[in-house]
Amino acid sequence: MPAQTQPPVAGRWLWTCRAGFESHLFEELAWAGAAPRLLGDALVESERSPSPPPAFARAGYQVVASLPPGAPEVLAEAAARSIGVLPGAGPWVLQSFTPDSPRGNPLATTAEALEAAVKARLPSERLLEDGGRAKESGARLVALCVAPDGVTVVGSVFAREALSLAPGGRRRMRREVESPSRAAMKLEEALDGLAFEPGRGDVCVDLGAAPGGWTQRLVARGARVVAVDPAKLMPELASHGRVKHVQESAFAYAPEEPADWLFCDMAWRPLEVAQLLAKWGRRGWASHLVANIKLPMKDKNPVLVRVRHTLVEEGGWEGLTVRQLYHDRDEVTVTAHRLR
Ligand SMILES: C[S@@+](CC[C@H](N)C(=O)[O-])C[C@H]1O[C@@H](n2cnc3c(N)ncnc32)[C@H](O)[C@@H]1O
Repeated sequence: MPAQTQPPVAGRWLWTCRAGFESHLFEELAWAGAAPRLLGDALVESERSPSPPPAFARAGYQVVASLPPGAPEVLAEAAARSIGVLPGAGPWVLQSFTPDSPRGNPLATTAEALEAAVKARLPSERLLEDGGRAKESGARLVALCVAPDGVTVVGSVFAREALSLAPGGRRRMRREVESPSRAAMKLEEALDGLAFEPGRGDVCVDLGAAPGGWTQRLVARGARVVAVDPAKLMPELASHGRVKHVQESAFAYAPEEPADWLFCDMAWRPLEVAQLLAKWGRRGWASHLVANIKLPMKDKNPVLVRVRHTLVEEGGWEGLTVRQLYHDRDEVTVTAHRLR
């Protein structure tokens, strides 16, 4: 890790990740031949954006400009100028973020002030205030990254290609008061990125369901849930009319009917979980998959390669995404689907 944050080079890609995961992100980019460089806490640069995108990146932007240190108005002026000459006539969603690190987080107020100052200098008709419509309207996300050591970066990515619509991929959520576990936020964030979501009447199987955060969110959406876990569910879920608790190991369980959705948040070995999910795919037991894979080991990427291979080659899961979401810790979230 460089002693001081390094500015990225214009034209290359700037990635941000969970602090402490820079080496995993670097390794993924290196394996993809994207010539990465560590810039500082939670920041990595690469020559290009690989496909599939790196699992350990929360967000990635093509670097428009690295601004030389300067007074706030000078920075705002320079940022607005570099945004003004971006190609295309589509709308912009302007956002700012700091690296999610002990030295980056205190810069949040500076980042917000810069965002406001840049906004004031851009033509208001080009600015899309409702970021929720960014994909449909062909908008570009234009991100201002305010990092330690005087590094300020303007980056951009089309919303429909973005890993996350949240600034720097930091998808903050208000903790639901009635939610039985913090895990529920991981599920909500995972569902957020999908083209469609589980809803009324869908049959969902939730492997590793206890104490019931995910099951609770699915029931709230109107789904029927088979919750598979040897551990106890919250009493209000155990007695819920649309929840069936199967109190056994997920490895022993076989569904009575194919499910619309398979969810899995089992605290178990990743390769064995991947094999279980592959079995569900092969047997056509579910159409959609959302699973959280635990990666407590030091060497995470070799395990991820095998997890991907097992799900796609052995399980026949399609459209696989693998992402360390904002709410994920030593884990990643995978999504996929299958035609039945
Ligand atoms: C992180 S917790 C799940 C949290 C849950 N998603 C929620 O929102 O409340 C992991 C769960 O995996 C379960 N688990 C571990 N091995 C399992 C197995 N073989 N079959 C089913 N569940 C298992 C544990 O009992 C534990 O409840």
